[in-house]
Amino acid sequence: MTHAVLRLLRERYAFDATPMFGDLGVYNVQFESMSDGVRVETRLREGALGGERIALIADSGCGKSSVISFVLGPMAEGVYPILVPVHSLMQDAASPERVADAVISQIARDIQFVVNDNSDALHASGSRREVTQSGGRLRKVAVRAPAGTLSAEVAEEIGRQITTTQQIELPEKIEVIYQGLLPLHEDALMPVFVFDDSDRWSAPEEEGIVKGFFTEAIRWMTDLPAAIVVAMHSQYLNSGRGGSELLAFLDTKIELPLLPAAAQLGRILLERARVHVENEGSLGAPPELTEIVTDSAIRVLFDQYDSGKSLRQVLQLTHHALAEATDAGAEALDDHHIVAAIRA
Ligand SMILES: Nc1ncnc2c1ncn2[C@@H]1O[C@H](COP(=O)(O)OP(=O)(O)OP(=O)(O)O)[C@@H](O)[C@H]1O
Ligand SMILES: [Mg+2]
Repeated sequence: MTHAVLRLLRERYAFDATPMFGDLGVYNVQFESMSDGVRVETRLREGALGGERIALIADSGCGKSSVISFVLGPMAEGVYPILVPVHSLMQDAASPERVADAVISQIARDIQFVVNDNSDALHASGSRREVTQSGGRLRKVAVRAPAGTLSAEVAEEIGRQITTTQQIELPEKIEVIYQGLLPLHEDALMPVFVFDDSDRWSAPEEEGIVKGFFTEAIRWMTDLPAAIVVAMHSQYLNSGRGGSELLAFLDTKIELPLLPAAAQLGRILLERARVHVENEGSLGAPPELTEIVTDSAIRVLFDQYDSGKSLRQVLQLTHHALAEATDAGAEALDDHHIVAAIRA
């Protein structure tokens, strides 16, 4: 019986270390429920609704996208998140004009998505996440963040304001964006610019991009009636990168805490297992976590985390250990499967 559950978790890739953005929020166990006295998810929600400029700070693989997807995903109320990709702009990410272009293009893409499909799937998917099977891997139906909140009428109104020409100067671009945001406010939605891939410039030669992006390229947004959420690698704040200078215009700082103990890592793994097992009627009642992953396995995994591995690396290790366990016909994921995965 438990072996069947282990097999299912492996087939469904339950411990996928790099889920799609929309799925991250489904798996997120709130940091503030795992660490006493820290506010993460509530603070981010509050800041987004209040139009604050927020730096979300953590090391790579430690939960920034997870928290953003949870708080600003399709179920979010009162906000209209605009996920602007900037990492691939490289040097251009330090340029206010190019970042403004990226913002305009993203708004136009999101609007098009709503205008083109204003009927059924979009609004339905905004209110309920579905679980589907695709290519052998479990995934939710891909839902875009704005889908749940934006009406086709507002989208069309924004579409009339947003023009994507690159031939205009920055002040005019800002005006285009400003006019595009107004219909959102009239619909009681706070626009939230989300830069979730602004934490990937890690090479020494990319220091200039980091500095330009944080100190210049997004500064013009101060004048807009919108919140900003920027993922920031902890390393950016180390000396040499300018440290506090990078935070000069971001007025809210949210740092993700480390997991305090093995029990919290256990909760994260259980949540993954629960989501994947829940809808599988043939398995009967979902088993207890300890029937799937033993306490000693979780302790070994936590030791790995404690010695510097990220949550992403620990999940990857768990998936490899699951393969070891199912190959061996085991009834539970045990510490020796983890050790074997570490050695492999
Ligand atoms: N609070 C959490 N609850 C459940 N799972 C989490 C949590 N935080 C992180 N994870 C998991 O850890 C992995 C890494 O998280 P995530 O992608 O959010 O990190 P990140 O900080 O955005 O990394 P990067 O800097 O590389 O973008 C994902 O598989 C995610 O599901
Ligand atoms: Mg991320």
